[in-house]
Amino acid sequence: MAVVFGGRSSEHTISVVTAGAVLRAIDRDKYDVLPIGITSDGRWALTADEPERMAIADRVLPSVEGLAETAEGSVLLPVEQGNREVVYAEPGAVPKALGEVDVVFPMLHGPYGEDGTLQGLLELSGVPYVGAGVLASAVGMDKEYMKRVFASFGLPVGPYEVIRPREWEQDPAAARKKIVDFAGDHGWPVFVKPARAGSSIGISKVEDLAGLDEAIEEARRHDPKILVEALLRGREIECGVLEFEDGPRASVPAEIPPVSTHDFYDFEAKYIDAADGVVPAPLTEEQTARVRELAVRAFEAVSCEGLVRADFFLLDSGEFVINEINTMPGFTPISMYPRMWEASGVSYPELVDRLIQAALRRSTGLR
Ligand SMILES: Nc1ncnc2c1ncn2[C@@H]1O[C@H](COP(=O)(O)OP(=O)(O)O)[C@@H](O)[C@H]1O
Ligand SMILES: [Mg+2]
Repeated sequence: MAVVFGGRSSEHTISVVTAGAVLRAIDRDKYDVLPIGITSDGRWALTADEPERMAIADRVLPSVEGLAETAEGSVLLPVEQGNREVVYAEPGAVPKALGEVDVVFPMLHGPYGEDGTLQGLLELSGVPYVGAGVLASAVGMDKEYMKRVFASFGLPVGPYEVIRPREWEQDPAAARKKIVDFAGDHGWPVFVKPARAGSSIGISKVEDLAGLDEAIEEARRHDPKILVEALLRGREIECGVLEFEDGPRASVPAEIPPVSTHDFYDFEAKYIDAADGVVPAPLTEEQTARVRELAVRAFEAVSCEGLVRADFFLLDSGEFVINEINTMPGFTPISMYPRMWEASGVSYPELVDRLIQAALRRSTGLR
């Protein structure tokens, strides 16, 4: 099997850290593992199988560039049916066979990894892979379409407005007015987000009109399409969904308490200061049952496979609103998804194995 990690998104380093943990957890008696790191500019590099070099050391985040065995050359997947031979090609050298790959674990977050693009490549190669397929990955990455799909399946979503690339480029005044009207209806502050990003990158909480343009520019640095959302007051509750032999099941939920030093659950709070989620979330039995049911419904609504982490707000009114799903959630042993499963009786190595097995159960092609 191959573990693919790193990649072109701003979550490159987190992906490397996660892959290190996965590489450590894979049962080496059961699987031969080929680590493939994708550099920040997209080269599929042959990478040392040295998970100990893939951790955060002294608050410094690792990268594929630091792990690649050679400065050029690419790992190539087969793209013809029936061929699963992966090769390594260097300029001017005869391609070297690396062996057959029967399953790929794409351990990537964000654009060009978790958004369906890599999944499309893997579909072309005909090799089964862990996690969501092309459509579910793409929907799970796009906060607009995610909300539209959830809403059409009767899942509760919060108020939002979309500013499309052309709207901002051709008439920023009209786009600004649309947001001001939205804030008039729902109140300030509003959240401004890139439609397709993750790890809170590019997200701002905007208190008033004065901060709006800067927030829009910041979000647009990550995606020309942006979302504006009403602030949802309440508790942040997450729930993991994992595909078992008989279908998806929900983990015990967790709560992300507000971090006093951070305005919201942002990148630093998530990864550097390792915001401490509470597992299981202190909820009533009914609330727990409700959020678990909603999490499985979110998994099904988007046609997810393997795993998903569904994130909710529990409003002061007692109602749950779904914020988003992550088709490849944070996955280090201290990340919320593995911790929720640990608390549900599924250890980290078992979790990794279940995901690989779920992928192997799947046939390639339409399903
Ligand atoms: N509408 C909202 N109301 C209140 N807090 C929000 C809202 N949207 C986002 N947040 C805060 O920002 C964090 C990141 O936003 P999220 O939409 O989950 O983006 P990402 O995909 O980057 O994780 C959330 O965990 C939450 O703390
Ligand atoms: Mg989130």
